[in-house]
Amino acid sequence: AQQPAAEKYRPEFHFTPKAHWMNDPNGMVYDNGVYHLFYQYYPNGLTWGPMHWGHATTRDFFNWQEQPIALYPDSLGMIFSGSIVLDKNNTAGFGANAMVAIFTHHNQKIEEAKTGRHQYQSIAYSTDQGATWTKYKGNPVLPNPGITDFRDPKVMWYEPEKKWIMTLATKDRITFYSSADLKSWKRESDFGSDLGAHGGVWECPDLFPLQYRGKTIWVLLVSINPGGPNGGSATQYFTGSFDGHQFIPMSKTQKWLDYGADNYAGVTWSNTGDRKIFIGWMNNWQYANVVPTKTWRGATTLPRNLTIDNVKGEFLVRAMPVKELIPFWKAVYTKPTVSIGRELNLSSAIAKLNGKLKLDFTLSHAQSFKIAFTNKTGNKLFVGYNKADNSYFIDRTAAGVADFEPGFAKKHAAPRLTDKKLIKISVILDAASVELFADDGLTVMTDVFFPETGLSGLTISSEAVKLNNLSVSKPLNADRKY
Ligand code: FRU
Repeated sequence: AQQPAAEKYRPEFHFTPKAHWMNDPNGMVYDNGVYHLFYQYYPNGLTWGPMHWGHATTRDFFNWQEQPIALYPDSLGMIFSGSIVLDKNNTAGFGANAMVAIFTHHNQKIEEAKTGRHQYQSIAYSTDQGATWTKYKGNPVLPNPGITDFRDPKVMWYEPEKKWIMTLATKDRITFYSSADLKSWKRESDFGSDLGAHGGVWECPDLFPLQYRGKTIWVLLVSINPGGPNGGSATQYFTGSFDGHQFIPMSKTQKWLDYGADNYAGVTWSNTGDRKIFIGWMNNWQYANVVPTKTWRGATTLPRNLTIDNVKGEFLVRAMPVKELIPFWKAVYTKPTVSIGRELNLSSAIAKLNGKLKLDFTLSHAQSFKIAFTNKTGNKLFVGYNKADNSYFIDRTAAGVADFEPGFAKKHAAPRLTDKKLIKISVILDAASVELFADDGLTVMTDVFFPETGLSGLTISSEAVKLNNLSVSKPLNADRKY
């Protein structure tokens, strides 16, 4: 069926609320076959407002069901970002396997009083798999020590010392706290005021271990706004060690989880064992409040599986779409090898897909290439690799509506991080977003764009003679009510 005009940028397989504003993903937790996603939500408008936690669930990362709002603002303030743990051992006393949400209360009234102590950490619990929530009577559990930006608690269980660790953004650094019961918290250490990127305030951190050949490497994600590599908000990360008290980085320089303009405030699901699944907010504070969607504003990125690899002596995170998504793609065009000639035209393969598709190929040698997605209105979105400076790019300069923000119509670049000869590319489009996964997720770029009409043209040009393993796939229809 034809979508109403107001819905033209609605993605098929990325989560968007049916209506109104969303920002950060919050409290993602896996429980009994269900992946829960909560998110910063303002249910009364299309721009940021008094924050609630919206709620959605999925079993397969493709079909999302929106659920009733989980947390409403109260006398202690708005409900800012945070996390959820499954309290298997009933450490907090709310019941075995209770879900416990640890979040920031943001008190506008105190802010107006200019005390600077308007953010503090509180908890809430659910004993019915996230359906209903009760706020703890003793809130806040972590009062503000006098730091203006004191927020976004991400809590994990630290098995060697059988305690909870809270990773908290505290203005220009991360502060780690520990607790036996999620109610009383002890400050452990600070990290990062003297290293990493500091173009803006630090927000929405996450700390977790990944395994590399039997060795544990700890990863610390830190979102910053502004100061991202391609402008505005972005997520940096550090690799290092963690002993339950202190994070020791392996290098003073940050790395970037995504070089695009539109992947912010992302963190990982809890209770997924050794596997780490990440999701971000597919937007940028530079223009999030004015992007031209009509009934909702904001979407999540694709859920991504994070792994660690050693590349040229450095530990780097790879991010790839979760494997659960594979069965939801149907190939509409495949070629084991194809000569490019002057330009390869694949328009007939995508003409009916309305800008929702996946394009995969490999190049046997690292050669420049340029993919052009076009439409009948003359919009052009380019994705490619430039050999001269060894960088990938997404160019949305002429990709559609961009008048809402002067810095939006731009070309974004990202370094290629491996010397491997073979270039492997996966590009995923979902109406108003493009996600580039290069070299098996070593370089990732996520950008939103707003084409005036559905994309119908696709050409690839390259210095390479041939493309290998070329495929164009379309997504199945997602089971959503809007
Ligand atoms: C990040 C952020 C968080 C905060 C939330 C408020 O985008 O600024 O630091 O908790 O959004 O909605």
